Amino acid sequence: MALEKQLVYAVTGASRGIGLQYVVQLLERGHKVVAAARNPDKAEGLASLAVKYGDALAMVSLDVGDPASIKAAAASIGKACPDGIDVLINNAGISGTIVESTEQDADEFRDILMINTLGPYLVIKEVLPLIRRGTKKQIVNISSSAGSIGTEAKNLRRGGECIVTHAPSMATKQVGYRASKAGLNAVTVAMAVALEKDGITVISMCPGWVATDMGNTATEALKVDRAPLTPRESVSFQLEVVDGLTLENSGSFFNHQGDVVLY
Ligand SMILES: NC(=O)c1ccc[n+]([C@@H]2O[C@H](COP(=O)([O-])OP(=O)(O)OC[C@H]3O[C@@H](n4cnc5c(N)ncnc54)[C@H](OP(=O)(O)O)[C@@H]3O)[C@@H](O)[C@H]2O)c1
Repeated sequence: MALEKQLVYAVTGASRGIGLQYVVQLLERGHKVVAAARNPDKAEGLASLAVKYGDALAMVSLDVGDPASIKAAAASIGKACPDGIDVLINNAGISGTIVESTEQDADEFRDILMINTLGPYLVIKEVLPLIRRGTKKQIVNISSSAGSIGTEAKNLRRGGECIVTHAPSMATKQVGYRASKAGLNAVTVAMAVALEKDGITVISMCPGWVATDMGNTATEALKVDRAPLTPRESVSFQLEVVDGLTLENSGSFFNHQGDVVLY
């Protein structure tokens, strides 16, 4: 059911979890969505949406770990959306193995940085001409409070308690993931500054602790029953924040409730 002016959204990491939920809710709102995923043909959630929504959903192949794939995906998105895209949801990401920060493997650290930091930057760079052509001109980088250096520094003074999980055991882990999301936040601010003159809004968004494959890995590591948010709840809250964005918000780091998170 078309409830709003139809806008065009591109969502990366759209095969499952938070990315897939963005696609679901944006289609429900009557928007056009480009779902970018490593193997869109194998994503069951996307296949059923394609049947239901037809031309409102375009699917493109995108591996954010591969610069050539990012270039090719941007060209495919351009073909599917010749008038440009309004909002990029830069969501694809990995957490890596949950290990003590003193034990992070170098190759895995490098992979996490590629997929969570450099890849999302290259996605922005390649789709920028399409965002310039769109009306809303917004980029939402899906980050994490785990990448908030200010919060981590506060945690240290509070005995290592993690702000999201309230568990000291988590705060000592995942240096690669933390560095990658801090790096993504730096990309957000750099792009916000560079693109302000073009009227393009760039923010970082922490989705909260969400019951996805990634979120459930943390749940298991912490031996708690479940993550506090379902993907549906998290994305519905996030969309309220995204809907209200203006250029004045550019460069900010929000959580799903719209609170400002420390960089
Ligand atoms: N869940 C949480 O509690 C939580 C908290 C804070 C931040 N986040 C952030 O939210 C975002 C989504 O996480 P999620 O919870 O939905 O995780 P998820 O369920 O593990 O899904 C991750 C998504 O990213 C995609 N992806 C991974 N590597 C990729 C690559 N090289 N190229 C393209 N796509 C790739 C996956 O595609 P495949 O199906 O092909 O693997 C999948 O669609 C991530 O950036 C994550 O860091 C999540």
